[in-house]
Amino acid sequence: MKPVFFAVLVGVLLGRSAQAADDAAMLEDLVYCLVCHGYEAQGNPSVGGPSLIGIEDWYLNAALAAYRSGSRGGYAAAMDMQAAARQLPESEMPRVRTLLSLLSGSVDQGAAVADAATLQRGKLAWAQHCASCHGADGEGNEAMAAPALRRLNDWYLQAAWQAYVDGGRGANGGPAAAQMAQLARSLPASVDIAAVVAFLKQAR
Ligand code: HEC
Ligand code: HEC
Repeated sequence: MKPVFFAVLVGVLLGRSAQAADDAAMLEDLVYCLVCHGYEAQGNPSVGGPSLIGIEDWYLNAALAAYRSGSRGGYAAAMDMQAAARQLPESEMPRVRTLLSLLSGSVDQGAAVADAATLQRGKLAWAQHCASCHGADGEGNEAMAAPALRRLNDWYLQAAWQAYVDGGRGANGGPAAAQMAQLARSLPASVDIAAVVAFLKQAR
């Protein structure tokens, strides 16, 4: 099967260099990842696959292991990804990284721009409730098992937050996911997550 999609990817990379297109050809069997994550890994809101641009190696490994084992599951968005992760043996991870390194798109974001008051509110809430684990500007902190958030699509941040609040994500997970779920469920309702997301969007 040679999806049209693959031709598009090679076309995109040819614009950069013939070498990049050659490398992509060797990774053809992994291109299905980009069907759901965007052909530049910029994220695909129609499927809910977030941007993978700039994803940290340690978090990529941890996330895929959690889908594979089923500990990240129990909510609708995770089901498609569980199937994809189970098709991908751990030994393929270096090739996934190579594929991602060939792409240089930027995160697909909605056009909405927050006003100054919202940004300020988001910044304060971030500093108070999130920065201790995810870093001052959302750059992530491996020692806390907390991924970078400023590299993610705004729609995905909202959806991921909701999956913790609703109890699907983190319910069967390891300690890191359980910690995040606990935080999301105990946060006062007065904290404006949409404002936090707006802050992260401009912290990039
Ligand atoms: C059928 C669609 C689909 C395919 C194919 C797919 N994904 Fe996903 N992926 C998703 C969705 C939807 C999510 C968000 C799930 C969630 O909220 O837990 C996701 C989440 C992820 C995450 C977690 C991101 C995060 O910030 O926590 C990683 C990493 C990932 N995918 C990597 C891959 C890789 C690598 C491949 C190819 C081997 C792949 N995906 C193939 C749909 C897909
Ligand atoms: C006590 C540490 C801690 C605090 C505080 C914290 N987080 Fe997290 N967060 C984590 C960890 C650990 C993970 C990874 C969990 C996992 O693997 O499911 C995470 C994951 C996330 C994710 C999912 C990222 C992805 O790629 O799927 C979002 C969204 C998120 N946090 C938002 C927030 C926001 C917003 C705040 C502040 C209101 C916050 N977090 C505060 C530890 C924390």
